[in-house]
Amino acid sequence: MTRVRQDNIIALPKPRTTSKLCVEEALRKRRTVRSYLRQPLNLAEISQLLWAAQGLTDRDGNRTAPSAGQTHPIEVYLAAWNVEDLPPGIYHYVPRGHGLERLSDREVKAELAEASSGQEWIADGAAVFVLVGVPERARELLGDRCTRMVHMEAGHVSENIFLQSLALRLGNAFVGRFEEEKVRAIIGLPESELPLALMPVGRKR
Ligand SMILES: Cc1cc2nc3c(=O)[nH]c(=O)nc-3n(C[C@H](O)[C@H](O)[C@H](O)COP(=O)(O)O)c2cc1C
Repeated sequence: MTRVRQDNIIALPKPRTTSKLCVEEALRKRRTVRSYLRQPLNLAEISQLLWAAQGLTDRDGNRTAPSAGQTHPIEVYLAAWNVEDLPPGIYHYVPRGHGLERLSDREVKAELAEASSGQEWIADGAAVFVLVGVPERARELLGDRCTRMVHMEAGHVSENIFLQSLALRLGNAFVGRFEEEKVRAIIGLPESELPLALMPVGRKR
């Protein structure tokens, strides 16, 4: 996603940068959660999770997750359907300025569950974070290693989301079993962007 329409950006609440949860406790408690209450998340929680995924952490453009050669080839999309103050739709996270770009007003929870071999529980959450790789962004620097690097970077981003979700007392999961072309079509991704992971999130049951 290279085109960012500034008139279509939702400013997110400022993320917090401290917490009472220590890293050891977060690591010990991290678990996949597939069962959610049908209660909305709020925009501050979504903001915090997006910051944990790819938020900027200094003036040099570095982020919460490491990146091979600072190429930052991961894009984070959000398919939301139960978030206060955020209409259902598909969004794209813009790290600079910490905003959400609205791409569509479609509610896609059933489509995402269907594209994931019918893992129906995905639709019970409030939203799904879609981690997408853009290998070509890293090719000039990394050559043919770029695709491998992009997969590793998605792993870093996903663990950040797991730990942040725990600190917010939310539940989340990592879904790798999905049909790539279906997810590409649902989110509206160009050919150059590879869907790598779906991360449903919701209030823990
Ligand atoms: C690459 C990868 C793909 C996964 N895909 C799915 C999936 O499609 N559906 C699912 O329910 N869990 C999926 N999982 C979650 C694992 O089943 C889960 O991490 C494992 O059972 C260990 O449980 P824990 O995460 O609670 O420690 C995936 C995990 C990884 C790392």
